[in-house]
Amino acid sequence: MVPPAATATESHQSASPALGSPDAPVIKDPAKDTILTPRFYTTDFDAMAAMDLQPNVVELEAICEEFRKDYNRHHFVRNAEFEGAADKLDPETRRVFVEFLEQSCTSEFSGFLLYKELSRRIKQKNPLLAECFAHMARDEARHAGFLNKAMADFGLQLDLGFLTANKAYTHFKPKFIFYATYLSEKIGYWRYIAIYRHLEQHPESKIFPIFNFFENWCQDENRHGDFFDALMKAQPDTVRGFTARLWCRFFLLAVFATMYVRDVARKEFYEALGLDARTYDKYVIAKTNETSARVFPVVLDVENPKFWQRLERLVNNNQALSDADASAAPAPLKALRKLPFWAANGLEMAKLFLMAPIRSERYQPAVR
Ligand SMILES: [Fe+2]
Ligand SMILES: [Fe+2]
Repeated sequence: MVPPAATATESHQSASPALGSPDAPVIKDPAKDTILTPRFYTTDFDAMAAMDLQPNVVELEAICEEFRKDYNRHHFVRNAEFEGAADKLDPETRRVFVEFLEQSCTSEFSGFLLYKELSRRIKQKNPLLAECFAHMARDEARHAGFLNKAMADFGLQLDLGFLTANKAYTHFKPKFIFYATYLSEKIGYWRYIAIYRHLEQHPESKIFPIFNFFENWCQDENRHGDFFDALMKAQPDTVRGFTARLWCRFFLLAVFATMYVRDVARKEFYEALGLDARTYDKYVIAKTNETSARVFPVVLDVENPKFWQRLERLVNNNQALSDADASAAPAPLKALRKLPFWAANGLEMAKLFLMAPIRSERYQPAVR
């Protein structure tokens, strides 16, 4: 599911007596919600249940069969390498790495909740779709659990029950769920595989053993993305026509811009892995854009230098907004100081949205 932001928050000790011992993990307060933090989604379950899969049912059944094989059933098993690994990180690396774990865990868990609820609510009326969602929920639960165990190595743990009950849920129509989750799965695939391949070349930068698990892990995300690709093809109106082209542009831009601004703002994490956040994001965005052309009717012109210049302006505006937030000024004054940067962000996003897109058939002729 779609990725993260870095908002430092305080932790609180749970009242649970089981956590009284000095070694017990501290339950961490979830990061404050911002436009950059992972969202939790809900949708129109009746519309999902009534969805006709016939136009692409053969492919969807084949994907479900793949899910049943559960290739990663035995993959997420912690080994001796984790013992003492957390103690080797210096305090700054530890801070940015824990933020990464928290945000990744939240976004994996957000996927779990959505898929689980979908599988439960449409089980009677749309068994094939329900089964696919159940398999994906299984995978996301594993991913979130594995990340949460890594947080425990740092003496922290996310209270997933608290998150479930207290996070705000964004309601999206099914087709918007398809665009958002498709992109988050595919971008998740490219993010994980890019880190994995980089660390394969630079083992000295592998700051924690969790990265050894990324290769098989990202194949789960790739399969999840392929499922949404097939689902959109079963509902061809979601990826055909003028309105669909506008929405696809909008979602591509929203996902890419959010990731870029967020990753540059926490470039220290990427530096700890020996990566440059901008170079890494450019690669991930270019690859996700290219992949998206297999199903979206248009993709973004990410080779246009203006695209990156405008993203950089968003980065600068965002920095100014954070600085204003961090100042000691009273709230109304802060809002007044932030106003021009909000407006500038709105203008930059509008300019980005209006940039000429690329027709996908020019991009991925072989697979369309
Ligand atoms: Fe996942
Ligand atoms: Fe996934």
